[in-house]
Amino acid sequence: MAIIFHEDSGEFHIYNKEVSYIIKILDNKQLGNLYYGKKVHDKKSFDYLLEGKLRPLAAYVFEENYSFSLQYIKQEYPSYGTTDFRYGAIEIKQENGSKITNFEYKSHKIFKGKKQLEGLPSTYVEADREAESLEIILYDSLIDIELILSYTVYDDLPVITRNAKVINKSKNSIVINKAMSACVDLPDCNFEMVHLAGAWSRERYIKCKRLDQGIQGIYSMTGTSSSEHNPFIALKRQNTDEFNGEVYGFSLIYSGNHLEQVEVDNHDMTRVLIGIHPDTFEWKLHQGEAFQTPEVVMVYSDGGINKMSQAYHKLYRTRLVRGKWRDRVRPVVINNWEATGMEFNEEKILSIARTGKQLGMELFVLDDGWFGNRDNDKAGLGDWYVTNYNKLPEGIIGLANKIEAMGMKFGLWFEPEMVNKDSDLYRAHPDWILATPGRRKSHCRNQYVLDFSRNEVLEYIFNLMEKVLGEAKISYVKWDMNRYITECYSIAKNADAQGKVFHQYVLGVYNLYERLISKFPDILFESCSSGGARFDPGMLYYAPQTWTSDDSDAIERLKIQYGTSLVYPIISMGAHVSAVPNQQVGRITPIETRANVAYFGAFGYELDLNNLSDNEKKKVRKQVEYYKAHRQLIMNGRFYRISSPFKGNITSWIVVSEDKREAIAAYYKVLNDTNKGYKRFRLKGLDINKKYIINDNENEVYYGDELMNVGIVIDEENFCAKGVDFSSMIYYLKEFSEK
Ligand code: DGJ
Repeated sequence: MAIIFHEDSGEFHIYNKEVSYIIKILDNKQLGNLYYGKKVHDKKSFDYLLEGKLRPLAAYVFEENYSFSLQYIKQEYPSYGTTDFRYGAIEIKQENGSKITNFEYKSHKIFKGKKQLEGLPSTYVEADREAESLEIILYDSLIDIELILSYTVYDDLPVITRNAKVINKSKNSIVINKAMSACVDLPDCNFEMVHLAGAWSRERYIKCKRLDQGIQGIYSMTGTSSSEHNPFIALKRQNTDEFNGEVYGFSLIYSGNHLEQVEVDNHDMTRVLIGIHPDTFEWKLHQGEAFQTPEVVMVYSDGGINKMSQAYHKLYRTRLVRGKWRDRVRPVVINNWEATGMEFNEEKILSIARTGKQLGMELFVLDDGWFGNRDNDKAGLGDWYVTNYNKLPEGIIGLANKIEAMGMKFGLWFEPEMVNKDSDLYRAHPDWILATPGRRKSHCRNQYVLDFSRNEVLEYIFNLMEKVLGEAKISYVKWDMNRYITECYSIAKNADAQGKVFHQYVLGVYNLYERLISKFPDILFESCSSGGARFDPGMLYYAPQTWTSDDSDAIERLKIQYGTSLVYPIISMGAHVSAVPNQQVGRITPIETRANVAYFGAFGYELDLNNLSDNEKKKVRKQVEYYKAHRQLIMNGRFYRISSPFKGNITSWIVVSEDKREAIAAYYKVLNDTNKGYKRFRLKGLDINKKYIINDNENEVYYGDELMNVGIVIDEENFCAKGVDFSSMIYYLKEFSEK
């Protein structure tokens, strides 16, 4: 890994053994991009990659020079105008009304390691040798504004991270209308754009479309990263598949409004812009102030989409997630939401917990409904204390003690960002919600969004949560967020600060998280947002796992978990076995298949365990044992998607330990068929020279190359629920050593 500056040519070469990224100081002192892709040897200059040509209608920067037009030059952080007519990465409105900027190279720093972003989540290093960073300082002398573009290259991953920072050095204020985290100009447009789209209960379905001239993109203006569009896109070649071909991934470490825009111009150049959505953003920057964009993580893979995903998995699992739970296996959870909703009492809760304990589960999570006047979704949010002693006679402290006394850990649900009108909080502070004065206040699920851009609001919620978490024995927190933000207006702010509120809200969420995780470092946090509406890298920085979706049906989950795995490590996905008929889709699936899907995540149960038959309980006990036996492998192994639920009746995947000595492969068959043909299941990621024994059966020993090239012969006789729909099979492979 290295970052080299060639002074004579004014070129920076950022590279490691996998990728190269080459930046040039252009003749007008702005920054151009010469190359981004598979690693190439370093040279003093790649000047020949700078393209310039006389073209009709083009505007040129210098007099008597008919080739230097920014419209045709690949740039690092362009702005609209001064010869470029495409969308830019930055727009600053100045005192005289002009939006034209000219950021010229001033200086740079190259250093080992990586800096953290202030107040924002970002990837990190544990030792300086893990990465090298470059900061390029650009300066617009007319308006006295500095722009710092930061780059980090990791040593052992095909990853480059980027962010931008604007500093106002002048006496005048400016208004930033747009500040993207990164712009990447690529020299051709032979790509397909892959992204993760969905809605509540069907989050992160994989979508893929060919790039075409003009604008294409995805976004969220919901105040969250959203279930509609995850803050991620990839550009892949048409023939790229899971294991072959080029793909560029762009993932934004942010939990609020975002935009991922791809523009193909009329000379087939591709411009990728990624960052905070400019339409809901306007940031007035006074003298001496700075604005920091979120970080974007760019992965280049020449080995297909799986290789890209594995880079994201490793980076996010080990250098984005923090705290004690980063490296700890996750407890097997039993959550009461799908069993009871808000209608429960202590006796009911204890009876589920007791059975959970008997079946080997380790942590009971009390979901929504324990606080204030919360018997339905019209009341209680904001009152994070027990008032209904009919439900919980000894409050949370008493319940937590009883669960701990069983030998189980206790977890609790919160929705800190919200308030119901029927609550002590709202009665005391009706002006603490986001709403436009004089206009109707829109609700969703009868709830309103607290103004987390205000410190007094954060302070109040922090104090309530701190009290509960400090008084009772609580080992886990599920932090939910069940509505989008509309009419984002803060009455505590002036007119010219309203454009900041969406972003400041997100910073408020991060701030509260940071305070709580610092104060309670032993608590495992799981983020949630009506299922997976805020499943993003920003959240993972604070909470190592996220509730993946409110759809807990195993067959629906195949798509959701498969799609989510494009970017996110499987251990970050909360995955529970629930009751049948399934609450969301009414489907009846075998209990084995439900577990076989949920194993590939942070595993647990979400049903009334007392309604299970004795036979089902026996199976559940075995499932819990199975997960415990293999959770280290599931958490730390390399995950390979093999066949896609978006493409056919079969879904399959495998997780292989780093040393390739063990693996778990799963094969799911959605609909049954008749008069079946023979099938082989070809595995991935094994050691070709090792012999593996399957499911501890000494008659089933095969070489790695055999399992990957020939495959396991599928014998449906061994499937759970053979002969019906929704069957599946799990194969545990272990290196076989001859006695
Ligand atoms: C939405 C979450 O996704 C569910 O798991 C549950 O916690 C409910 N909210 C509770 O209101």
